[in-house]
Amino acid sequence: MCLCPIGFNRPICRTVSDAVYVLDAIVGFDSNDEATRYASYYIPPGGYKRFLNPYGLKGKRLGIVRNPFFKIAQGLGLGQTFENHLHTLRRQGAIVVDNLQIANIDVILNVTASGEAVAIVAEFKLSLNAYLKELVASSVRPLADIIAFNLKFPDLELTDKIGQDIFLAAQATNGIGAQEKAALANLENLSKNGLEKLMRDYKLDAVVTPRADASSVYAIGGFPAIIVPAGYDSQRVPIGISFGGLKGSEGKLIEIAYTFEQATKIRKPPSFKP
Ligand SMILES: *[C@@H]1O[C@H](CO)[C@@H](O)[C@H](O)[C@H]1NC(C)=O
Ligand SMILES: *[C@@H]1O[C@H](CO)[C@@H](O)[C@H](O)[C@H]1NC(C)=O
Repeated sequence: MCLCPIGFNRPICRTVSDAVYVLDAIVGFDSNDEATRYASYYIPPGGYKRFLNPYGLKGKRLGIVRNPFFKIAQGLGLGQTFENHLHTLRRQGAIVVDNLQIANIDVILNVTASGEAVAIVAEFKLSLNAYLKELVASSVRPLADIIAFNLKFPDLELTDKIGQDIFLAAQATNGIGAQEKAALANLENLSKNGLEKLMRDYKLDAVVTPRADASSVYAIGGFPAIIVPAGYDSQRVPIGISFGGLKGSEGKLIEIAYTFEQATKIRKPPSFKP
């Protein structure tokens, strides 16, 4: 389970309720983090626990974007798994709105074409350097120190094996210039005309997609998503199902995810056998 933007600040827990208890503990306004000012307006009084409602799919409008998300799942032999889940969602009272499209989805999922790749490395350097600067004690301050540290201790940091390409790309950026501004404007536009328009046009509460394949769709808008176990592949690797929505929809996403989880109980505790 994770409450995201997928890929960022996500609690990963065994159950939806565990994730919600963690979320309740970590949300709030932090005067050292300006981004939390606006985000904190969405926190409901009394926290998110009250959304752990086992009838939380009743009347929820769920959008299905088959191209490319269900097609990817089908290609992996998971088509029937996700069709069955759509039946489960309907049986629990959801209104499934099928065959929807997200405008420019091929561009959104291509980090080069969307501008996400340009924006991520520039923002990463700024944010990491700001964070390191605030630390009371640290042997590394700017990103350049971390890169040098990794070069000095390649065995410890596995630098020889996995490299540090993202660090180097980030280090090569120089703040938010013309290229980054254009990338950020493009991402905002893609999100407005993409997920935001779709959700409003069809009055959706959430979009349902297999695995975490829609993570860029949520990340570029700063939107929340939650992923819960949906099955296991032939190698016994767990497969998730994601529910994502607009800003402030965490409560609805928790109701949806919790009801799906309680109706399916798919997770098996790992045995840790080889
Ligand atoms: C992604 O976009 C870039 C730049 O627009 C393009 O060159 C590349 O072929 C695209 N990749 C895919 C997989 O479509
Ligand atoms: C935003 O997207 C629309 C439609 O996709 C396009 O017509 C418009 O030029 C775009 N605006 C910017 C600033 O990129």
